[in-house]
Amino acid sequence: MREPFFAANWKMYKTPAQAREYANAFAPLADKFRERAAIVLCAPFIDLVPLREELRDLDPAGFIDVGAQDVFWEPEGAYTGEISAAMLGGESVDYCIVGHSERRRLFGDTDETVARKVTALLGADIVPIVCVGETLEEHQTGRRLDVVAGQIRACLGHLSDEQRAGLVIAYEPIWAIGTGMCDTPQGADETIGFIRTLDGGLEDATILYGGSMKADNAAYLCAEQNVDGGLVGSASLDPAGFATLIDNALRGIDGASA
Ligand code: PGA
Repeated sequence: MREPFFAANWKMYKTPAQAREYANAFAPLADKFRERAAIVLCAPFIDLVPLREELRDLDPAGFIDVGAQDVFWEPEGAYTGEISAAMLGGESVDYCIVGHSERRRLFGDTDETVARKVTALLGADIVPIVCVGETLEEHQTGRRLDVVAGQIRACLGHLSDEQRAGLVIAYEPIWAIGTGMCDTPQGADETIGFIRTLDGGLEDATILYGGSMKADNAAYLCAEQNVDGGLVGSASLDPAGFATLIDNALRGIDGASA
């Protein structure tokens, strides 16, 4: 049984002080999800240590995990501005987003560099959250599944079945990110179900939907059989709002299995 999984993607929001405030507001609200779901807060690099420190006190059992939003694949060296997987792992970072469409579009990430980042993360015992998804044009011309298949094979083809089974993958149609234009539950389910058939191990991977998931659509999306949860951007920035979204999503999952 795959566990429901919710990842906040804060993007470039929140100072270290705001990250601490968030942790203090969110931890008591999230307590009721313990045993029910996995939750990870993916924060800017500079927030990771304060967030981890705060959660260590608020949530000593470590139920709420901390994640980064990118990594560089080399272990160390003359790479100005970069952060390695070993550095993240040394600070008890559990997860790391790679291949987000904003990084692909604005910072030159490609399937090839995403594959290298995935390898580096696995070597540091950090679970990659690998993002894939098609553009609006690719969507409108019926190429959604082909595009996603190409990304999955290029980013994850070098892994063993066992490694793939331990991944988190986020299907995020680019046209749905930050636009309020969420995919239909059927579209998300079909694409994620298709990803599960692409290669060994993916059947058991945790696969999320991302792109304008909100408190009012999370239940419908997460009720779908193949959708394990969400990678949530703007709707994760407010701690109470994110808790409500998770609550609604779990109700959707319960309703679907009832
Ligand atoms: P959104 O972002 O929820 O604001 O659409 C999701 C993401 O970019 O991961």
